[in-house]
Amino acid sequence: MVDVAAAEQRIATFLAEAPYGRGLMDMAAEGARRGWHEANGGNVSYRLRAAERSEVEAVRAELDLACGLWEDLAVAVPELGSEAFLVSAAGSFMGRLDQAPARRLGIVELDESGVRFRISIGFSDGGRPTSELAGHLLIHSAQKARDREGRVLYHAHPNELIVLSKMVELTPRAVTRALWKATTECILAVPEGVGVVPCLVPGSLELARASAEQMERFRAVLWAQHGLLCAGSTWEDAFGRMDSLVKAAAVHLATRALAGEAVVPNVITDGFLRAMNEQLHLGADDAFLRSEDK
Ligand code: 13P
Ligand code: ZN
Repeated sequence: MVDVAAAEQRIATFLAEAPYGRGLMDMAAEGARRGWHEANGGNVSYRLRAAERSEVEAVRAELDLACGLWEDLAVAVPELGSEAFLVSAAGSFMGRLDQAPARRLGIVELDESGVRFRISIGFSDGGRPTSELAGHLLIHSAQKARDREGRVLYHAHPNELIVLSKMVELTPRAVTRALWKATTECILAVPEGVGVVPCLVPGSLELARASAEQMERFRAVLWAQHGLLCAGSTWEDAFGRMDSLVKAAAVHLATRALAGEAVVPNVITDGFLRAMNEQLHLGADDAFLRSEDK
């Protein structure tokens, strides 16, 4: 007979001690301190390595825990067959994941064909994976195809990016150029640019599919009126990308607000961005480095 409280405690300790679990909780807490996670705003996921999946199996065996029942995924992700993901629970407050990791986080595993999932450990009070699970999985699929070591997805609601999405033409080119021209660091954080999806229903398949399409090319995608989703090889990488983009958006908006109708006297020019691209070998898309679309 499984002692439920003891099992929950063991899973909480396991998640808090696993480097990927600790990293996730620290990043979410830091994001919440910065105001990027009102209420349950935002969600996270991490694709486990094979050795990490074995550690999860060992904990389940130790606790004699069965997996949840197989459930159909809303999307098919054959490239992710047999993979496992640590994900935040729907409705969980990102700043408080570490107060109840076994409830507010869980690991889901996919079947061999990538069409069904089941809960492996976590979500211990009957919780469910984030409402954006389909989007996370489609994006993981796109990210894995582009960068096999890209394992982290981080979604947050920073004010600056939501406001930016109200003020700038909603194309990757316009958004990327606004951000690149705000600070010298921005093009370093996202040399490939930033993807954009229009205002779509949170948790919808439409948002999931549109995001995954953008993430085939970009490692950050702006969700109009909603927030930002960033990919990374590590938590620091994903968090750092979010942070750099939030800063660039804040500088862009502050400059615009101060300048009003006046011309901004000192700007980052296209020529300067091209020089950065050349000297630092950033591989930025040339079309984004010119004022006229070609
Ligand atoms: P979840 O609580 O379901 O993860 O939703 C939060 C969110 O930000 C949806 O976009
Ligand atoms: Zn959201």
